[in-house]
Amino acid sequence: MQTIDIAPVKGRGEPPLTPHLRQRIARDFIPRWTDEWGSRPIVHGKPAGPQTVRLDGNDYLAVSGHPQIVQAQVDALRMDHGHVVQSGAFLLNDHPSYALEQSLAAWIGKEDGMLCQSGYAANTGLLQAIADASTPVYVDTMAHTSLWEGVRAAHAPGHPFRHNDPAHLDRMLQRHGPGLVIVDSVYSTTGALCPLVETLDVVEKHGAMILVDESHSLGTHGPQGAGLCAGLGVTHRVHFITASLAKAFAGRAGYFTMPREMRYFVLSESFPNIFSSCLLPHEIAGLAATLEVVKRADDARVRLHANTRRLRAAFDNLGYPIGQGSEQIIALEAGLERDTIALRDTLEENNVYGAVFCAPATSRNRALVRLTLSAALTEAEMTHVENVAREIAPRVRPWDWPIARRQRAAALA
Ligand SMILES: Cc1ncc(COP(=O)(O)O)c(C=O)c1O
Repeated sequence: MQTIDIAPVKGRGEPPLTPHLRQRIARDFIPRWTDEWGSRPIVHGKPAGPQTVRLDGNDYLAVSGHPQIVQAQVDALRMDHGHVVQSGAFLLNDHPSYALEQSLAAWIGKEDGMLCQSGYAANTGLLQAIADASTPVYVDTMAHTSLWEGVRAAHAPGHPFRHNDPAHLDRMLQRHGPGLVIVDSVYSTTGALCPLVETLDVVEKHGAMILVDESHSLGTHGPQGAGLCAGLGVTHRVHFITASLAKAFAGRAGYFTMPREMRYFVLSESFPNIFSSCLLPHEIAGLAATLEVVKRADDARVRLHANTRRLRAAFDNLGYPIGQGSEQIIALEAGLERDTIALRDTLEENNVYGAVFCAPATSRNRALVRLTLSAALTEAEMTHVENVAREIAPRVRPWDWPIARRQRAAALA
């Protein structure tokens, strides 16, 4: 694999960086770049080819390119809306984005909601509105980075609690008092499902509030894809639901729900809704069409979950330690970055493409190749992935990965 030159370009005058920034790059990045990654970005493998099985995207229901969605986007681009590119805070309630916000809220089963430029912006913006320096915020250690950033943006005291451990959350709430609890419904690196009902019992016991990030369950779980909360019948017990619309919606936006009484309060607090421009008309039209496609996608949901069960069983039977999760995201946690690169390269040589996740997306020494499944995988592709998993196992030795060792030690303890 070719290395990449990141030396200064001769003859182009970049002004000097401060010594402090230079030192940080030399200390925090260069050893990783040269020693661990072999002078190329760890997350970049080979370009995909026509034979490649792509398990590196989040279009779980394979809605990209759906004719109804494309047509809605094209129609919106062709129409003269007299659209003004401006902050979402200025949009009146006759704007198409308001109609979409209401349709999404009705589908999810909540009173109201707001679109944002991304799931990241939705999480940070909502948190700025609902937490402050006097709000203890309890965050599952595996919660998405945008949620942690939201806690920071809100200047709130953050209290991490052990992943998927409501008993630990209970003790933390006891110690620091009622505030806001944050979980993901399905965790984005491992595909672990949140024990939502048990978590809600703890939240209610302490009179706290809860935010559930449904990025990896909206569209894929629940009736008509309305999410995990809807699937479990607990939507009315959840205060705030957020989601990236770049997963099952395959778009470029985010969303959060809120009680209707909070609409204008949020619009005066959430910086992404105030200081960043609104979505464009063709994006809104595309998302509105996607919502209708997603609602009708029961067959795709059935296929996605069947694919999940089948590939999870295959990897599990071959000795891959994937038991951290149960949903459509499968983590092959090789651990060290160089082992993860080797695993990714081996998979790619065999035309199976996942995505490398490493620090800061995982903790150091817990790097992994993430495989995300989709409803569109064909029988031939599924069989190919199973065969590759079997053929490479003696080379990549998943039973020797640190996580496998830890799991064996825990089982014996
Ligand atoms: C759980 C979760 N929340 C939020 C986000 C951010 O979403 P977006 O990519 O739309 O900014 C992601 C995407 O990586 C995610 O996995």
